[in-house]
Amino acid sequence: MATSTTFQLTKCRLRPWREGDEETLSYYASNRLIWNNVRDFFPYPYTPRDAHSWVRSNKSYQQPTNFAVEVDGKAVGNIGFTVKDDIYRYNAEIGYWLGEPFWGRGIMGEAIPVLTQYIFENFQVNRLFACVLEGNRGSMRVLESAGYRPEAVLRKAAVKNNQYLDEHIFAMLRADFLARRAC
Ligand SMILES: CC(C)(COP(=O)(O)OP(=O)(O)OC[C@H]1O[C@@H](n2cnc3c(N)ncnc32)[C@H](O)[C@@H]1OP(=O)(O)O)[C@@H](O)C(=O)NCCC(=O)NCCS
Repeated sequence: MATSTTFQLTKCRLRPWREGDEETLSYYASNRLIWNNVRDFFPYPYTPRDAHSWVRSNKSYQQPTNFAVEVDGKAVGNIGFTVKDDIYRYNAEIGYWLGEPFWGRGIMGEAIPVLTQYIFENFQVNRLFACVLEGNRGSMRVLESAGYRPEAVLRKAAVKNNQYLDEHIFAMLRADFLARRAC
């Protein structure tokens, strides 16, 4: 169901970021409930200037590494990945967030398997992983449903809101992906 790098799914569309997305991006991203579950480099509040610089740096990739999650024609979230380097160069970390009004509709449940397939089919990556902060049941559930395995709990590895939090690592190997696809 992919047209170049756009994926039309039943509940959303994944497509490259583009000019014009800034307004809904800053509106939905500027949410403490999102910020509480992501890295500190994610801005809060998420200003129009932050949105402008995100769109500018993500809009022109031939093979995007970040996709706007579009619902009803509006960009209301992001899903993407970063390939690691050095001895971890066959690893990629996935990350995602969705505007709060859209939670619980199965949108990320649909998007994560599609991103996973896109990465394994287009990049030299052997292991995909995600880091989930303690208490984020929704994110853990969505990863497990997509076939990611809970691999480790890094005790109090992260700090958020001045509190040490456990970090839960979920991962899928290329071999897991191929085995899953063969079923
Ligand atoms: C985590 C997040 C991406 C989930 O996206 P979503 O589209 O709401 O998830 P879905 O509706 O596809 O739900 C997927 C599964 O998780 C479950 N789930 C969703 N939210 C949940 C919650 N708060 N608690 C427990 N389970 C939850 C759903 O019931 C569903 O389970 P199922 O597969 O058994 O049916 C979204 O809540 C979000 O953006 N949160 C803030 C940012 C964030 O946490 N990003 C991830 C950082 S690791």
